[in-house]
Amino acid sequence: MSDLEARIRHWFEHIGEMTPEHVEARRDVELVITKLDDGQLRVAEIDENNDVLVHEWVKQAILLLFRLRGMETTQAGPFEFHDKLDLKTDFARRGVRVVPGASARRGSYLSPGVIMMPSYVNIGAWVGPGSMVDTWATVGSCAQIGANVHLAGGVGIGGVLEPANAVPVVIEDGAFIGSRCMVVEGARVGRGSVLGAGTILSPSIPVIDAETGDEVSRGYLPDYCVAVSAQRRREYPGGEFFLPCVLIIKRMDEKERHSKVALNSLLRDHGVAT
Ligand SMILES: CC(C)(COP(=O)(O)OP(=O)(O)OC[C@H]1O[C@@H](n2cnc3c(N)ncnc32)[C@H](O)[C@@H]1OP(=O)(O)O)[C@@H](O)C(=O)NCCC(=O)NCCS
Repeated sequence: MSDLEARIRHWFEHIGEMTPEHVEARRDVELVITKLDDGQLRVAEIDENNDVLVHEWVKQAILLLFRLRGMETTQAGPFEFHDKLDLKTDFARRGVRVVPGASARRGSYLSPGVIMMPSYVNIGAWVGPGSMVDTWATVGSCAQIGANVHLAGGVGIGGVLEPANAVPVVIEDGAFIGSRCMVVEGARVGRGSVLGAGTILSPSIPVIDAETGDEVSRGYLPDYCVAVSAQRRREYPGGEFFLPCVLIIKRMDEKERHSKVALNSLLRDHGVAT
């Protein structure tokens, strides 16, 4: 355990006593946020067993930050804001394209080649190289978005801050998340998978294979699958109801890219934002 981690864990044990006047704790926490902002630290990553490993102490630092910062009023042209946290800056150096109306909080990491259409990325989130955060998409706190991912318009990637050991949403490399999907509460989309427009994926939602009818998981769409929102029949004392599920309608091999997704990438490569 590094000294910095030990100190953050110590401050977190005393989180109830933290105020903006606590200079020492604030110095440590701000250092963690700077490292998150530059991509030197991550809240979570996939380990060698393909499990999501959460660096709990990094999340503790984010939780402490809210105690250690006071409210401040800032202004951008006619717009006024009143908040505790700073916005991310220095996009040209980072090689990130940010369309007016987009904002990311300091302490999120945007890799080179990321495009932010008017969208939002919260603190602790990590977005991999070449990924597109399309119009009105939101990337919640601590969510982990891989390389060359497309989050289509209006996608809601849920944020998870508390408890500190809670697993964040993970979208793996090359995934395509269709318009207005909601991926929340530590749900995970595997490499190269496609989630059809308007699908909700959470750890409560069964993922069912259309070929076999089997439930393959809850809240985890495996690698290289194409899945859409569907319904499953449920009997309750009050009658028959249809609850949502995620239905895998296709499995692709590793090299394959879904034709509709490939079209989107092609348009982007030629500078047409989709
Ligand atoms: C999931 C998706 C990739 C599937 O495309 P596809 O492989 O060509 O599959 P099809 O369109 O043939 O659909 C297969 C079946 O799933 C159904 N389906 C397709 N998309 C669906 C969705 N989003 N929700 C529910 N059902 C869907 C179709 O009705 C079809 O049913 P059928 O077999 O009874 O006709 C595509 O429908 C999709 O949602 N793309 C994302 C679009 C998007 O968000 N773009 C963002 C930029 S505009």
